[in-house]
Amino acid sequence: MTLQECGEIEINVEHDIAIARRAVRDIAAELGFGVTETARIVTAASELGRNVHKYAGGGVMRWRALNKNERNGLELSFEDHGPGIADVDEAMREGHTTGGGLGMGLPGAKRLMDEMEINSAPGTGTTVIVRKWRR
Ligand SMILES: Nc1ncnc2c1ncn2[C@@H]1O[C@H](COP(=O)(O)OP(=O)(O)OP(=O)(O)O)[C@@H](O)[C@H]1O
Ligand SMILES: [Mg+2]
Repeated sequence: MTLQECGEIEINVEHDIAIARRAVRDIAAELGFGVTETARIVTAASELGRNVHKYAGGGVMRWRALNKNERNGLELSFEDHGPGIADVDEAMREGHTTGGGLGMGLPGAKRLMDEMEINSAPGTGTTVIVRKWRR
């Protein structure tokens, strides 16, 4: 397959998380990430996709191939128009959950990726952007 540079996958029903996972796995492999790095990216995508589904009731995952200063990478952006996150620092803390989870999704995703940014405002929604650079 010839990879396009970007794309998007809607996350509405729970099964869409699995579809997003599979797409991320294929994209990461196609971009030259190794098996371990790909597994890390897929796990992060799974957690962020699950949050979109669980807390916002749906949204979209956009992906983009990166090429900067001779480095190649993958950017994933999870965007929703859900309730937003009032305190992002608090949400990033391990063990913090408002949904009866483990509170490990966001901090875990940050650890698994090279970069992570969260933009959120109560009432407008949440955008979580993660990036991974190829070694
Ligand atoms: N897209 C989102 N919209 C609104 N709130 C969110 C979103 N993503 C995360 N949150 C908030 O941040 C908290 C922490 O998220 P995180 O994924 O780390 O843990 P969790 O989903 O509660 O548990 P789990 O370990 O099962 O993922 C959530 O409990 C929720 O309050
Ligand atoms: Mg979570």
